[in-house]
Amino acid sequence: MKQKILVTGGTGYIGSHTAVELIESGFEVVIIDNLSNSREDVLDGIEKITGVRPAFENFDICDINRLDQFFQKYKDISAIIHFAASKAVGESVAKPLMYYRNNLQSLTNILELMEKYELNNLAFSSSCTVYGQPKQLPVTEKSPILPAESPYGNTKQICEEIISDTLRANNNLNAISLRYFNPVGAHDSAHLGELPLGVPANLVPFITQTAAGLRKELSVFGDDYNTPDGSAVRDYIHVVDLAKAHVIAVQRMIGKKQKTNYEVFNLGTGNGYSVLEAIRAFETSTGQKLNYKLVERRAGDIECVWADTTYANQELGWKAALDINTMMSSSWKWQQHLMENQDKFK
Ligand code: UD1
Repeated sequence: MKQKILVTGGTGYIGSHTAVELIESGFEVVIIDNLSNSREDVLDGIEKITGVRPAFENFDICDINRLDQFFQKYKDISAIIHFAASKAVGESVAKPLMYYRNNLQSLTNILELMEKYELNNLAFSSSCTVYGQPKQLPVTEKSPILPAESPYGNTKQICEEIISDTLRANNNLNAISLRYFNPVGAHDSAHLGELPLGVPANLVPFITQTAAGLRKELSVFGDDYNTPDGSAVRDYIHVVDLAKAHVIAVQRMIGKKQKTNYEVFNLGTGNGYSVLEAIRAFETSTGQKLNYKLVERRAGDIECVWADTTYANQELGWKAALDINTMMSSSWKWQQHLMENQDKFK
């Protein structure tokens, strides 16, 4: 019988790509999502790629009674991957309580019910935002956690602490926090990708929407950073590489291969690209010319961050394989798919 994995937020951007990789690795996937930032027809995309439609439950995991009912129905879950959370930095500054409630309560509900139903394995969606602007680059998992720049970032730090404290008190539980750098790209089939609501805040969806003519021009935030070309540097990682790391994390917990019951890994490529380099990669890999202008820095942005991935490479036997050109060309293919199916994606 296939092992069952619960994916919360499984119709979201990273969750849906992870569902595909899990199914393709022989797992059965059950998704919980309240569709607050995704759509039910993402399940069609998963089905088109894998031939399997995952079981889907539409509710908010902040509702502990509803989540308890779910676990009564699905007692035989081998691991939980918890993606469901609010993730927009700017929105978190405007609506901090919504972020604290959504991101903290969902996690405590899951942990409480893991204890109640003796479910032992949790992979948690964390972020490189926990490092702030690091003093030394690249950042390792041992780099200091700096005060969060936003309520969103703070929820990721607090969630990691909640997991760590809970596992210290309960040795039966295992967890892995995965600190993502900048996830971009889309499934090569163009059946899955990011579905930003409204005006995208993140770079790559803004680039593809500009190239598609939906936005007049891209603003490059800051040209006076202390970087080779003055624009800010990030470690962009293809969402499919990221998804594969989740499968390995789950296998590691189920196979009892962890070194300690709580582990943390950086998930990046180890390469930093500036905004201007990312734009050039988009232009060369797609043949599209991009309208852009240099503007002021964006408040709250850091200058540079990229990952030291040695520990993840060694311990997980995982390495990001897809380069920035593939990230850009797959994002563009996905944007074109959205344009061709405009009625559906309005
Ligand atoms: C942000 C969050 C991060 C979160 C991630 C995904 C911070 C400090 N970090 O990363 O925690 O996980 O989003 O939601 O907020 N840029 C432009 N023009 C644009 C958009 C972006 O020049 O229109 C630049 C930004 O200034 C930045 C880079 O592109 O230098 C990447 O930006 P973005 O995609 O928004 O991600 P981060 O801000 O790095």
